[in-house]
Amino acid sequence: FGGVVRIPVVVHVVWNTDAQNIPDEQVHSQIDVLNQDFRATNADRDIVPEPFSRLIADTRIEFALATTDPDGQPTSGITRTRADVTAFDSDDRVKSAATGGVDPWPADRYLNIWVCQLGGGLLGYAQFPGGPPETDGVVCLHTGFGTTGTASAPFDLGRTTTHEIGHYLNLFHIWGDDGTGCAGTDEVADTPNAGGPNFGVPSFPHVTCGNGPHGDLFYDYMDYTDDRGMVMFTGGQAARMAACLDGVRNSLGQ
Ligand code: ARG
Ligand code: ZN
Ligand code: CA
Repeated sequence: FGGVVRIPVVVHVVWNTDAQNIPDEQVHSQIDVLNQDFRATNADRDIVPEPFSRLIADTRIEFALATTDPDGQPTSGITRTRADVTAFDSDDRVKSAATGGVDPWPADRYLNIWVCQLGGGLLGYAQFPGGPPETDGVVCLHTGFGTTGTASAPFDLGRTTTHEIGHYLNLFHIWGDDGTGCAGTDEVADTPNAGGPNFGVPSFPHVTCGNGPHGDLFYDYMDYTDDRGMVMFTGGQAARMAACLDGVRNSLGQ
């Protein structure tokens, strides 16, 4: 895509308790975070130390709640469904009415985001490009969604959804998903090779896999740090997401 691409989003709120039926305001706070993070206008990017700051990229991807539903009717871009399931899992059941959740809107035209209760400490999960349309999109724990309402520290800055949409647009974790070894790669040239995931808010530098002196790029959205520690995508990651939107996910852009 040439300039800026804007992706239409539908947020499916799937709730069992009243608290899980998160307010519109919480949904809007998440959309705001996405637009800041993907355009690199998030104020907290200033925590990135000088050796890495030149890697920070504006991906030129924006997000907007859908204004037209699949039938062509006006919509808020938010659906609400009462579920009998008390906690969903990474098994995609939230993505179908037949399994206690709600069906996606056409995945070639909308980014579907399901927000619900998840078990087992799971914050969220995503489907990579090229998968079945009926399960396409991302799922996020309601307490890790947005910055208000039920959002709770340390996952209350909306970064779980930023991270999951990174996967949805074909990004791998920056350590290459090979455990703590140094053989894995995220297929991105400007992210330093890293041993394993970083957690919490690490102190700079954390050297692994001979990546000194600056070490792991643990400030990246595709690591596993707390929300306040992940603040950037790189130019290489932006290019990979652009290739996805110019290719497999071409029908999404407007
Ligand atoms: N564990 C999840 C995944 O691998 C999400 C991690 C999000 N991290 C965060 N600090 N919000 O997709
Ligand atoms: Zn991930
Ligand atoms: Ca790399």
